[in-house]
Amino acid sequence: MKVPRIFSLLGFASLFALFLSDSVQAENTVTLYTQRHYEFDEKLHEEFTEKTGIKVEVVKATADELIARLEQEGENSPADLFMTADAGGLDRASKAGLLAAMPASLLESVPDRLHDPESLWTAITQRARVLAYSKDRVKASDLSTYEDLADAKWKGRLSIRSSSNIYNQSLMTTIIEANDAETAEAWAKAVRGNMARPPQGSDRDQIRAVAAGLADVALVNTYYVGLLENSSEKKDRDAASAVSIFFPNQDGRGAHVNISGVGLLKSSKNREAAAKLIEFLLSPETQAQYPNATYEYPVVDGVAWSEIQERWGKFKADEVPLKVLGERNAEAVRLFNKAGWE
Ligand SMILES: [Fe+2]
Repeated sequence: MKVPRIFSLLGFASLFALFLSDSVQAENTVTLYTQRHYEFDEKLHEEFTEKTGIKVEVVKATADELIARLEQEGENSPADLFMTADAGGLDRASKAGLLAAMPASLLESVPDRLHDPESLWTAITQRARVLAYSKDRVKASDLSTYEDLADAKWKGRLSIRSSSNIYNQSLMTTIIEANDAETAEAWAKAVRGNMARPPQGSDRDQIRAVAAGLADVALVNTYYVGLLENSSEKKDRDAASAVSIFFPNQDGRGAHVNISGVGLLKSSKNREAAAKLIEFLLSPETQAQYPNATYEYPVVDGVAWSEIQERWGKFKADEVPLKVLGERNAEAVRLFNKAGWE
């Protein structure tokens, strides 16, 4: 009788240990579905794990691919957090009913405009979409607004990526919002007509095109200039030094500023750990790293800009409600198509 009893005790103990290690592991992992594609994020996750013991599992895809996956997985999704490189994706996830309110106390340091009123999502960084112009062939006084890019003086001189890119789509929502659909379509048609070549490549490639003399003005997110300027490739550093940054619409609504942000998922089984990651990303220490690593702007007030951001200078930002970027996305895509901007 003794032997089997020991066995059964051992069996119970090992089962219990298995159960314990499983639940400890689940509690110690946050699964992040993200659209962001920056090496620096991995470094941040390692830092977070070192600090808290919580591991970060990452799944990368476009915002719409991730939303489709979350809808398919439903309650069984392993995901805790959804992160995008654009406000529109957060709005779509929220409309799809995928997001849960995060503790409002997490968002106290984030200005109201940069988080959802019901705490379904928050911005983590900000990114301005601006003009990068040739120092040799363009004067700052030649530049003024996004709308002015439709002017015939830019014929054959613009370099801008495809309209399938979310950064262009979000800018387009603000052109519609500030004007009207008809004006926005005519604008897109004229800008497409002013391009030096058919839309192609990334934001970095548009800056390279200006540096190579293929075009005079590119429309890009500021941080790509920062990434090129600090690249290990001399070619990239040369490309960055061939351009200056211009913030459009400074006498009007301001330059277009999008966000990268994160939402807590309803499917999250591990909300406490997920909230800890959000808290870490919004902490003054982490916020202070972004301007020097990805050259994005912080969202928390009082966090210093990097040297390069100071050099680009202070600017007026378009304060259009961020939900417009989501709500008008389909319209923006339709108008781009009608205008023939590939
Ligand atoms: Fe980007």
